[in-house]
Amino acid sequence: MPLNFFNVVLMQKTILILGACGQIGTELTLALRSVYGNSHVIASDIREGSKDLMASGPFEILDATNYAAIEDVVMHYEIDEVYLMAAMLSATAEKFPMRAWSLNMNSLFNVLNLAKENKISKVFWPSSIAVFGPTTPKEMTPQTTIMEPSTVYGISKQSGERWCSYYFNKYGVDVRSIRYPGLISWKTQPGGGTTDYAIEIYHKALSDKAYTCFLKADSKLPMMFMDDAIRATMAIMKSAPENIKVRSSYNLAAMSFTPAEIAENIKDHIPDFKILYEPDFRQGIADSWPSSIDDSRARADWGWKAEFDLDRTTGEMLRNLAP
Ligand code: SER
Repeated sequence: MPLNFFNVVLMQKTILILGACGQIGTELTLALRSVYGNSHVIASDIREGSKDLMASGPFEILDATNYAAIEDVVMHYEIDEVYLMAAMLSATAEKFPMRAWSLNMNSLFNVLNLAKENKISKVFWPSSIAVFGPTTPKEMTPQTTIMEPSTVYGISKQSGERWCSYYFNKYGVDVRSIRYPGLISWKTQPGGGTTDYAIEIYHKALSDKAYTCFLKADSKLPMMFMDDAIRATMAIMKSAPENIKVRSSYNLAAMSFTPAEIAENIKDHIPDFKILYEPDFRQGIADSWPSSIDDSRARADWGWKAEFDLDRTTGEMLRNLAP
């Protein structure tokens, strides 16, 4: 059939994002809308999100733990792909272990089961560096290695990875996943993560020229600027199925730094910026995670390459957050 306007529109897939109002969901929704068209990307969350997000396309109030409600939306909009971005992050999950387990696991089962029943054809589910634990090699952590996560969040992500792999092998579910490092962004505030300090520090540098960090000066963690994370997410989802050889989740890396290093970097722009250290319970979480990640499998399988280092990230953050 020759391609014309009408059958191109008919071939256009429709995407549902669960947890669209969160830190990643907000930017991912806007990015997907710019590629697939606003009306083809349905945002959903348990509450409304930013003005930009709400104004740019369809939105549904939707609880990711409610299978029947998700199924209704999937049927109504004839959804092809689901991105499951709803989750409770590491620091909050330590305070509410059962709620974290229930949200993080039930939402995943809902989406995997919709795919198993052929109601959707493709799933994106984010994993995290939190799948690793104190016994994992810390530097250049390999794709396949010891994984004994010691946090509630990490246990849920590690279990989730096993289920993704199981649904792919057993039922042929096309589920794709990335182990995100700490994500740095300026459009939407993060919520309840251990790596959130690397965002707060820019806000406080601009407002107070001082920041009290809840991690120690030398806690080195893997990090990534949000634009890279969105690009990676869209790239893995666009890649041909045969390229996706890891069906648990891919290691992904961009940069690693300590609180002391990011503070020095900020001082290049704001010379009298001061940092103090008052480590709290999140130090224990950070100590259990890797310092740097080997992402060679993602590079080889679907052509991943990070673009933002710490200098570029600091420049973008300070420019965009400046009053
Ligand atoms: N950034 C997340 C957190 O700190 C890790 O996936 O919880």
